[in-house]
Amino acid sequence: MYDQTPLLSNLNPEQLRAVTLPSESALILAGAGSGKTRVLTTRIAWLLQTSQVGSGGVLAVTFTNKAAKEMMLRLQAMLPVNVRGMWIGTFHGLCNRFLRAHYKMANLPQTFQILDTQDQLSAIKRLCKQHGVDDERFPPKQLQWFIAGCKEDGLRPKDVDVRDDETRRKVDIYQLYEDQCQREGVVDFGELMLRSYELLRDKWEMTTKVFTHSEVREWATWPTLCASLACSTKSS
Ligand SMILES: Nc1ncnc2c1ncn2[C@@H]1O[C@H](COP(=O)(O)OP(=O)(O)OP(=O)(O)O)[C@@H](O)[C@H]1O
Ligand SMILES: [Mg+2]
Repeated sequence: MYDQTPLLSNLNPEQLRAVTLPSESALILAGAGSGKTRVLTTRIAWLLQTSQVGSGGVLAVTFTNKAAKEMMLRLQAMLPVNVRGMWIGTFHGLCNRFLRAHYKMANLPQTFQILDTQDQLSAIKRLCKQHGVDDERFPPKQLQWFIAGCKEDGLRPKDVDVRDDETRRKVDIYQLYEDQCQREGVVDFGELMLRSYELLRDKWEMTTKVFTHSEVREWATWPTLCASLACSTKSS
């Protein structure tokens, strides 16, 4: 029955099986160049075409802008949908959009600014100067890695396991950095992800209404937080 549908006619049997899996959680593992993008985009198109999901109910996340663009182009070629209005993009891009849409709940100003890694380093240097941090003992770059690493692991300052004085000091600086960012209404790349994750985790009611389907990719290359973020949406 399915292979009479034009949308499904360009799939091999394994791909067809993956695309037409029931509308529930499914993990599809496939190697490089094996047709992952074809499967994911066709699955989205098929779910839309068969009215199993509305275009606002799909969340499709990729790691790079290039992959996100490719997904949108391929989906657009299959169905007359406005892909720009759909939640298709990179982790950081979608988190930014998500936080802007729910800035109040995320405790952010509507016009929050994003710090790139250079801005983040400058902010840390400024902070260290203000608080007389010895930059030989605690080089700003190292502090930047520490903070980014904590955020990537989903850890706020209070969650970090402190076993020695050096870590204690680093965690104090992490807290000061957080306070400074919050005061100035800025978020770094890690914060985009961590705050979105916390929002999805803590305001589950609200977010499950937003996404009923999530399509996620390239597990092996994801840091911990990306995986948690993907899992905190309803299905993947
Ligand atoms: N069933 C198929 N019949 C013909 N061509 C196919 C089929 N499946 C995939 N292809 C082609 O193979 C190429 C790779 O497919 P695709 O980009 O979907 O794979 P991928 O696993 O996402 O690749 P990558 O690992 O590079 O991201 C594309 O040119 C695609 O059109
Ligand atoms: Mg691909």
